[in-house]
Amino acid sequence: MKNRSKTHAVSANKNNNTDADLARRVRSGEFRVAVYGLGHVGSPLASSWLRAGAHVIGVDNSPEVLENARKGRTHIYEPGVNEAFSKGLKEKRFLIYGDPLKASQDSHFKLICVPVLLTDSFSADLSAVKQVATAIGQGLKKGDIVSLNPSVPPGTSEDIVLPILEEESGLKIEQDFYMVYNPERIYEGRAIEDIEERYPAIVAGAGAQSLEIGAKLYSLVAKKGVIKMGNIRTAETEKLLEGVYRDVNIALANEMAKFCEKAGVDFWEAREAANSQPFCHIHKPGVGVGGACIPVYPQFILHAAKKSGVECRIISFGRNVNDAMPAYCVEQAMKLIDRSDVSKCTVVLLGLGFRGGVSDTRLSPTYKVIEELKKLKVKEIRVHDPLVTRDPHLPPDVMLTSDLSRAVKNADLVMLISDHADYHNITNEKLNGAPVYDGRGILDRSRFTPRRFASLGRPR
Ligand SMILES: NC(=O)c1ccc[n+]([C@@H]2O[C@H](COP(=O)([O-])OP(=O)(O)OC[C@H]3O[C@@H](n4cnc5c(N)ncnc54)[C@H](O)[C@@H]3O)[C@@H](O)[C@H]2O)c1
Repeated sequence: MKNRSKTHAVSANKNNNTDADLARRVRSGEFRVAVYGLGHVGSPLASSWLRAGAHVIGVDNSPEVLENARKGRTHIYEPGVNEAFSKGLKEKRFLIYGDPLKASQDSHFKLICVPVLLTDSFSADLSAVKQVATAIGQGLKKGDIVSLNPSVPPGTSEDIVLPILEEESGLKIEQDFYMVYNPERIYEGRAIEDIEERYPAIVAGAGAQSLEIGAKLYSLVAKKGVIKMGNIRTAETEKLLEGVYRDVNIALANEMAKFCEKAGVDFWEAREAANSQPFCHIHKPGVGVGGACIPVYPQFILHAAKKSGVECRIISFGRNVNDAMPAYCVEQAMKLIDRSDVSKCTVVLLGLGFRGGVSDTRLSPTYKVIEELKKLKVKEIRVHDPLVTRDPHLPPDVMLTSDLSRAVKNADLVMLISDHADYHNITNEKLNGAPVYDGRGILDRSRFTPRRFASLGRPR
C-alpha cells in the first residue's frame, strides 16, 4: 500500500524546527507519539513521553494489555507506569489502539518496542518487528519519524526494517521520512528513572537529517542528553556489547564462586575487597542468567559471527558456563538432604522472576531448576514469588504461591533462586527449619543451622 500524503509532521529544516517549536508541537498534540508494544520497554517509554506532556497512542496486539491500558494499568511491575497511564487518560493525551495501521496514520513519531526473542535455532526472531514495520509503513506520512528500540542483530534497522517502510509507504528515507535506532537502556523495576534521569539516550540515524531530528526528540525525555552515534549498525552493536559484557562477566563470577567453594574461601568477601579497586568490576554469581536480554544478546553476536566465519569463543564459553548453573546449584542443594529419599522430597523454590525485584519470568533460571528436579523425580515442587501470581509456563503439577508459609509447609528443601528484597532477611523459622540452599549468596548464614545451609560461593 502506498501513501503519499503531503502532511509535514517534522522537517529537518532548522528554521522551522527549533527545539522549542518541536517541544511545543509535542505538548500541543500537533505532533503525536505512537508506542508499538506496551511491555517492559514500551510501557515505561510511553510513560516518559506522557510525563513529558506528549500526546501518546499506545498500540498492542494483546487484548489483555489493551484492556489494562484502557483502565490506566500495566500488567508488569514497573513503578510510575500506572500513574502516568492514568494521568494521560484523564487528560485525554493517552489513546489506546489495537489497530497498528490507524496508529501509524494518526501519529508522527512511531516507536517500535515489540520483542525480538530467539528462534529455536538461536537466530533473532524478527517476526513482530516486521509485522509492526509493515503496518507503520502503510500508514506512513511525509515528515514522519520511525524509531526502532529493541536490541537487534547489527544491520536489522537498515537491511530489514527500512526496506519494509520504504516499500509499504512508497516514500524515501531522508527525503520524505526519517528513521532512527534508539536501544532501550533500562533495568526493569526502575525503567522510567533510567530513561529520564540515569543514562544518556543512544541515537543513530539512517542519515544526517534523521539523526538531527531523532536527537532533538529524545532530548525531550532524556535529561542526561543524547549520544549521537555515527551510524545505526554501531548503535545496534553497542547495545549488544552491554549485554555480552554482563553475560561474560557473570560467567567469570560463576567460575570464581565455584572455585572459592572448593578452595575454602568466601567468594563474596573476596569480591567486595577486589571491587574496592577501580579496575575491578567482578559481577555477582547466581543460579542462572535469565530475562529477555542478557542470555539473548550473546546469541545475536554468535549467530552473526558464525555467518562471517569469526569465532567468538569467550562469548560462547560464557553462555555455556551460565547455562550450566541451574544444574550445578541443584547438585549442591541435593547434598543437604538424604539422596535416598529424593522421591519423598518436597522442594520449594523461592523466586520465579528472573532476578530480584521483577515479575518478568522470561528465561527464568527457575524453569531450568524445575527441569533438573524433575529429572531427579522429587515428590513435589512448589514455587514462591512475591511479585508473580500466575504463570502459564509452569508445569501443571508445580504449585505457585505468594504465601510463604503455605509454600514452605512440610518442605524438605528450600532453594533461593531470585534475590527479591523480601528474601534478604528471611530466617530459619520462616522456612520451618528446612535445609536451605542460597543460590544468590544473600542470606545471613548465622541465622541458619550450619549443616543444613549452603550458599553459592561460600565454603560449607
Ligand atoms: N525488558 C528489558 O529490560 C529490555 C531492556 C532493554 C531492551 N529490551 C529490548 O526490548 C524488546 C522488547 O522487550 P519487552 O521486554 O518490552 O517485551 P515484552 O514482551 O514485555 O513487551 C512486548 C509487548 O509487545 C506486544 N506485541 C508483541 N507483538 C506485537 C505485535 N506484532 N504488534 C503489537 N504489539 C505486539 C506484546 O503484547 C507486549 O505487550 C526486547 O526484545 C529487547 O530486545 C528489553
